[in-house]
Amino acid sequence: MPRSLSAPVPGWAASADVIVVGSGIAGLTCALRLRERVDRVLLVTKTVLDEGSTAWAQGGIAAALHPEDSPEEHLEDTLVAGVGLCDREAVEALVTEGPQRVRQLVALGAEFDRDADGEIKLTREGGHHRDRIAHAGGDATGREISRALIAALDRVRDDPGIEVVEHALVVDLLDDGAGRVNGVTLHVIGEGQLDGVGAAYARAVVLATGGLGQIYTSTTNPPVATGDGMAAALRAGARVTDLEFIQFHPTVLFLGEGSTGQQPLISEAVRGEGAFLVDAAGHRIMEGRHELADLAPRDVVARAILDTMRDQGVDHVYLDARHLGAAFLEERFPSIVASCRSLGFDPATDLLPVAPAQHYASGGIETDLHGRSSLPGLYACGECSCTGVHGANRLASNSLLEGLVFAHRIADDIPARIAAGELAEPEVPERPDRAGGDARGDHALLDHSQRLTVQRAMTSGSGPVRSAESTAATAVVLGELAALPPSKAAPGPKTWETTNLLHLGQVLTALAARREETRGGHVRSDFPERDDARWLARQSVVVAPDRSLTLTERSMP
Ligand code: SIN
Repeated sequence: MPRSLSAPVPGWAASADVIVVGSGIAGLTCALRLRERVDRVLLVTKTVLDEGSTAWAQGGIAAALHPEDSPEEHLEDTLVAGVGLCDREAVEALVTEGPQRVRQLVALGAEFDRDADGEIKLTREGGHHRDRIAHAGGDATGREISRALIAALDRVRDDPGIEVVEHALVVDLLDDGAGRVNGVTLHVIGEGQLDGVGAAYARAVVLATGGLGQIYTSTTNPPVATGDGMAAALRAGARVTDLEFIQFHPTVLFLGEGSTGQQPLISEAVRGEGAFLVDAAGHRIMEGRHELADLAPRDVVARAILDTMRDQGVDHVYLDARHLGAAFLEERFPSIVASCRSLGFDPATDLLPVAPAQHYASGGIETDLHGRSSLPGLYACGECSCTGVHGANRLASNSLLEGLVFAHRIADDIPARIAAGELAEPEVPERPDRAGGDARGDHALLDHSQRLTVQRAMTSGSGPVRSAESTAATAVVLGELAALPPSKAAPGPKTWETTNLLHLGQVLTALAARREETRGGHVRSDFPERDDARWLARQSVVVAPDRSLTLTERSMP
């Protein structure tokens, strides 16, 4: 594994106290909070502020807001969904701090749907035993949260304490030569000084760069989800954990076998309101499979669909929401109804063809309860991180909450450490170079033209169902791509993204091949049972300075 990507020598330098990379719920919350506590925050984002996964989140944000609900019950549901691999302390932080953080989001301006008494409406999704999902605009929760946070950012945009740079792709991390992360290299499509590749230095870097959905042929993630932060942290030597646990959402509109890229999500909340899954003969798929039937945890539902598809030799099943009626569907799920109708399906009159597609990475850059990674100076938050909250499978609507809660924790930790003299001001070199990078200059890049090859190999071998044979075949394809001569690809955003997908795919596949059991989002056809005697353990990888990959395993208490 190379320690950095081949890139032009930085042509400009910038500095701040803290660099926050990413503008979803995690990045925006963190940057806004930090701005009140440190002198200078630099917020960079890959495209524009609202183009990440947060804005696509439909269902909502889970929190024990109802008087009859409790953080303990939310904790229990989260631990069950995580199938034995959650970090209990991290989940405790999530569920106890969650309600207060959601209320703060409301105070900031986020408008959630409310009932006739003015209370926040709460719905249910898979794996929850209570109605605890707050939603906005019916099925546009992420968009509303994103709007409220960007509006809050706009209110302080002229403040010299915060600078926002859009169209800025993080290439790699920088370090101070003694192992402490002190910045990032960035490619900015900008004007004037900040254009092309540059280096930004800081006391601390917070990665909130989202997921890696584009590693598969079909995903609910937007095109920007190419795992850039995760891959940069991996190459820099940060511990990356639980990467084999990929969540495949059960109900993604099936648009035909050849459809690639971002696919339309049909929120679990539609089943929360009473829709159910059927096969082509109209038989209910989830009946008798789980006590929660169509609202079983996501991995259980996805697996039942995959089993049905395999047994019946078909490539999709159906979601039946017709009995909910046009008026209700249009009011409660306006975006989903509009998206389905634009594609020729009317949820009020048609069965909706659905199949599982990649949705969420439960693993990522391992962090502690303060969001600190294993590398000094590097923090991670949101989907790119692995706080331990999700274990083997994330509970529905816990992702926005995780980004929110841990962003606050990071924004508390960094100023405290600066005050304690633990995060020194970085030295900004007059002529930035690739400090901390690989000096040998032979960092292979994978040309963008190979992206579909990576995606196909990942989908067939390390996708929703895996085996020793399939992961071995994927490892061979990815290994061959990694061995292509470096001269074949020119450095640039599309090539860096594709190389990031390759690096993460190699690690994910190695971990999936090792885990000889089925648990949560990791399904093995050759080991269809969960094996607690052997696999009640989490796997991590670290890239050493000599580029070798060390794999460790930790048993769960
Ligand atoms: C959904 O609306 O089904 C997705 C919610 C989530 O991923 O938590």
